[in-house]
Amino acid sequence: MSSSEKGSLYNLSNRSFRLRGTRITEAQAKATENFWDVFGIVPDHQIIPSEIFPTSKAVIMEIGTGMGEATAEIARTFPETGFFAVEVHRPGIGSLLARINEFELKNLRLINEDARKVLEEKMDDGCLDAIHLYFPDPWHKKKHWKRRIVQRDFVDLVFRKLKVGGHIHIATDWVPYAEWSANLFGQDSRFNGGIIPKPEFRPLTRFEGKGIGKGHIVTDLKYLKL
Ligand SMILES: C[S@@+](CC[C@H](N)C(=O)[O-])C[C@H]1O[C@@H](n2cnc3c(N)ncnc32)[C@H](O)[C@@H]1O
Repeated sequence: MSSSEKGSLYNLSNRSFRLRGTRITEAQAKATENFWDVFGIVPDHQIIPSEIFPTSKAVIMEIGTGMGEATAEIARTFPETGFFAVEVHRPGIGSLLARINEFELKNLRLINEDARKVLEEKMDDGCLDAIHLYFPDPWHKKKHWKRRIVQRDFVDLVFRKLKVGGHIHIATDWVPYAEWSANLFGQDSRFNGGIIPKPEFRPLTRFEGKGIGKGHIVTDLKYLKL
């Protein structure tokens, strides 16, 4: 690792995601082969939401879409909204591409990269109506808290990328992570919000189901950029 990488937000020890195997099922590989060129965006240039979704009433980025169950359902519920699904895990990208095809969705684009990097380097300030962050990796152990995606610099990043009046919606099944997020967003005078009831539009994800199965309590939080 170079010295510049060591100091970077995206170095190994600060990554907000786990490095998992890239084993991909036949269905995920097939969906990737058939649909990535149509729905995938390689972030090697500036990503302009209004160019990609010219007729959409709003544009939302979901960070860490996992297998994409919630992402596809929400995009189906809101056909007039454009969605960017950002996920580092390739099998998840394949699963979501298969769902896009199954649901015949036109309002979803996928980015296979660290969402913080995409937001910081490839998206203009004030270009998003909302950010969805559903069940971010909780990083339970204290020595790993620095890997939680919600950090002070992430709050700044979210603030910069949202439009005025835009919001971030976070859901987590780890109460200490809900408290952690509430501390960071709730104590920032540039935002207004807090705990909200689970919105009807947010379906259960596989990850959420597992948490509930273990007796975890799910918290939804919403913060509006003032
Ligand atoms: C615990 S899973 C939850 C997935 C999904 N939202 C759900 O509820 O089932 C967290 C996901 O976020 C992804 N992730 C974590 N940090 C990320 C980042 N910086 N950029 C993009 N994806 C990220 C991980 O790869 C993982 O798939």
